[in-house]
Amino acid sequence: MIRPHGSDELNPLYIQDSNRRKALLEEAAGLPSLTVSSAAAANAVMLGSGYFNPLTGFMDRSDALATADSMHTKAGLFFPIPILNVVPDGSVIGKAKRIALRDPNVPGNPILAIQTVMDVEEFSSDEMERMTGKIFRTQDPNHPGVAAFNSSGKTCISGPIEVLNFSYFESDFPETFRTAYQIRAEMSALGWEKVVAFQTRNPMHRAHEELCRMAYEAVKADGILIHMLLGKLKAGDIPADVRDACIRKMVELYFPPKTVLITGYGFDMLYAGPREAVLHAVFRQNSGCTHLIVGRDHAGVGSYYGPFDAQAIFHDEVPKEALEIEIFEADHTAWSKRLNKVVMMRDHPDHKKEDYVFLSGTKVREMLSQGQPLPVEFSRPEVAEILMHYYQSQAVLT
Ligand code: ADX
Repeated sequence: MIRPHGSDELNPLYIQDSNRRKALLEEAAGLPSLTVSSAAAANAVMLGSGYFNPLTGFMDRSDALATADSMHTKAGLFFPIPILNVVPDGSVIGKAKRIALRDPNVPGNPILAIQTVMDVEEFSSDEMERMTGKIFRTQDPNHPGVAAFNSSGKTCISGPIEVLNFSYFESDFPETFRTAYQIRAEMSALGWEKVVAFQTRNPMHRAHEELCRMAYEAVKADGILIHMLLGKLKAGDIPADVRDACIRKMVELYFPPKTVLITGYGFDMLYAGPREAVLHAVFRQNSGCTHLIVGRDHAGVGSYYGPFDAQAIFHDEVPKEALEIEIFEADHTAWSKRLNKVVMMRDHPDHKKEDYVFLSGTKVREMLSQGQPLPVEFSRPEVAEILMHYYQSQAVLT
């Protein structure tokens, strides 16, 4: 199986031994504690899962700046996005060397992890702006990722962590939430070596479905890993349980058995386009995948990124030897009225715009809210039905 990023073995930071976990929870109860931001909690879950291998905890100020600037830590490790625990005020922890991190997303704020504090430092406003610009390529406070990144404060608490649970992800999505080491184990049990990963934060429509099939066939893969984001999204995006139901129905009806693993990871969407695509590649390699599909406007939002910027970054900025996973670069995919199937546009230069069925996200929401069925060229009817049900239940609530 493909090696993890940056080490020969995956080193997830979740404490697997239950006695050790119990002892750490007892220790944590007596430590100064801090309720962290949702982003920091998601980082802890990702570190615990092995997705951010080989990091051992939260970066310090100079590593964060180096990572934002050059996608490398000071020690030369390739990493596309600073992994931070940033808080508004570090004074509550005093001079403590070990602190308990409390979960902001679970009622009662239970302890999520213990952090060994290496340093407590302040980012200046200029440094926050510099990192924002590098990660998101914009400073616009209306960008949902920029808004979240700048909302947690400027005090950076760095140091290794020991993760004690997987927040709400394990309890809310028991069938779907998986760690990188669980995915590796499941793929190995299936005998999969060559695996195409599909990142998604949406219910899967026909373009998504076909993209998976095309990549699977093109690289002659043993299987497809559908890997959906289970964490926080901007308002208006579809909740994870609804997306999960749509994806499960689509796979059940339209893929042969044992070709697809349906899984999810516990992270909040950054909407950072190109940089997030590179992070996606890092954590799919850590999950044992050999290929990642990167299509149109991958991890994008609004019109902040060009449609294929998330592919260009792999050519222009990621050093060749940095990652072993390969990118399956997909062109815009849509239903061709001339061929009566979903196609990749680059394969059909003879087609004109009007030969395709296009529906914007806004149009889809509008149709579903008004109870209009989605065209079968756009969405499988069984998937559309689940979405319709969700939108109609929302309409009743509002
Ligand atoms: S994302 O934010 O997770 O990237 P989404 O779930 O919509 O959003 O997309 C998942 C993957 O499918 C991404 O790689 C994206 O680029 C790709 N994709 C989605 N729709 C299309 C399309 N019509 N044509 C080509 N690629 C697409």
